[in-house]
Amino acid sequence: MDRTSIGVGLIGCGTVGTGVLRLLSHEDEIRARVGCSLRVHKIAVRDLEAERDDVVDKSLLTTSVSDVLTHPEIDVVVEVMGGIEPARRVVADALKHGKQVVTANKALLAAHGDVLLSYADQHDLDLMFEASVAGGIPVIRALRSSLASDRVQSIHGIINGTSNYVLTEVEQSGASLDEVVKEAQKLGYAEADPSADVDGFDAAAKLQILMCLAFGTSVTQATPEVRSIVPLCSIDFEYARSFGYRIKPLAVARKDGDQIEAWVGPALVPEEHVLAGVSGVYNACYLNSQAVGPLLFYGQGAGMMATAVSVVADVIDTSRNLIAGATGRRQPAAETGASILVVDSGRSARPHYLRLTVEDRPGVLGRIATALGAHQISIQSLVQDDHRPNTNAEIMILTHDVLGSDVMKAVAEIDRSADVRAATLVLPIEDPERA
Ligand code: NAP
Ligand code: HSE
Repeated sequence: MDRTSIGVGLIGCGTVGTGVLRLLSHEDEIRARVGCSLRVHKIAVRDLEAERDDVVDKSLLTTSVSDVLTHPEIDVVVEVMGGIEPARRVVADALKHGKQVVTANKALLAAHGDVLLSYADQHDLDLMFEASVAGGIPVIRALRSSLASDRVQSIHGIINGTSNYVLTEVEQSGASLDEVVKEAQKLGYAEADPSADVDGFDAAAKLQILMCLAFGTSVTQATPEVRSIVPLCSIDFEYARSFGYRIKPLAVARKDGDQIEAWVGPALVPEEHVLAGVSGVYNACYLNSQAVGPLLFYGQGAGMMATAVSVVADVIDTSRNLIAGATGRRQPAAETGASILVVDSGRSARPHYLRLTVEDRPGVLGRIATALGAHQISIQSLVQDDHRPNTNAEIMILTHDVLGSDVMKAVAEIDRSADVRAATLVLPIEDPERA
């Protein structure tokens, strides 16, 4: 197709949308890479009066999404508004209007990805979503293209920038979790509701997308177990280090025959492992693939420009497809993986870290050890910290390999005892190199 320009419409012009406009302003480079220019015709926002970056041409702003979806010169709709509704309707309508769609919205894909991707597939349309996982890291493209010939066996990701930033700051400066979350919001890393970041749901949505690409599971139905970073405090980082580990917000999917163990949450990682050094807003995806072996993807997982790089790369890619008359080349679908069962972390054996807050008096430790023993939980190390300014003692325990489900049963019993002053924290110890 011989074209002089491809029309782009934006739905949303916040952190990511502004970055997209900044990159699209590099017109000469983009024209050289695409083969024609990319021209923004309309930008839908909620509030026409809100302050905008200088790169935003105010004459293109509209509060009517349909101005974008029905614009005859717009070929590619970029959805960077976030949330599930009305974003689902917007993306579905854009596809119905025959537009190619680029989205950064993992929550939307995790909730409705199967339907949207299969609609795009049936109608030979592109629905691209590189920015939905790990911000600026090109892991989606790697899974869809570079690894299309291989069999991925496990994914170990640090794929939420906000929670990694928060844990890093709490560890390094001892700041409170609430304070650091506010900072992450100011920096444009956090979701509109940052509980999606700290409670693990954002990483879970991203893991669903990665599992769909790696294992062919349903993007909406293969849901991982999710745990929050909120119960962690500085003492956990201190003792994790003394035991030879770092605490990281992990997203793990490990295939074993017809099952995938999938979970998201804070975990102890051996300090010598490459993931232990991934700090701040940086993300990493450590994949183990049958033929190629281990692969590491590392970079900024959130923030305006890093995320915009992935969005605009998708806009460029779909524009090239438009020019070649080759849009809608095979969307990921839940075919090969439809029968795979997703299970939680409770079914496999690994060491665990426990922090118990108990009354500091004789006999308590013995009762805890007895309760753990009754559930076949053997202790590898135990430290009591009673230097905190209160009458309680904190007991940190590292177990040998034990089933997560047995740990949870033992802890439920221990937490019912009068000796215990606060819910026990349980964190898995995850070694990505374990077969
Ligand atoms: P944001 O800063 O809150 O921007 C949202 C934009 O959408 C705003 O411009 C807002 O308009 C507009 N909007 C919201 N509801 C709308 C509606 N009903 N009609 C028209 N416009 C509407 O969000 P963001 O951080 O850019 O995130 C956008 C998406 O990218 C989300 O899906 C997010 O998960 C994803 N993402 C973000 C990052 C990141 O680092 N921020 C990284 C990767 C992916 P107003 O400006 O008028 O309020
Ligand atoms: N809130 C998300 C994060 C944005 O912190 O990782 C990137 O997807």
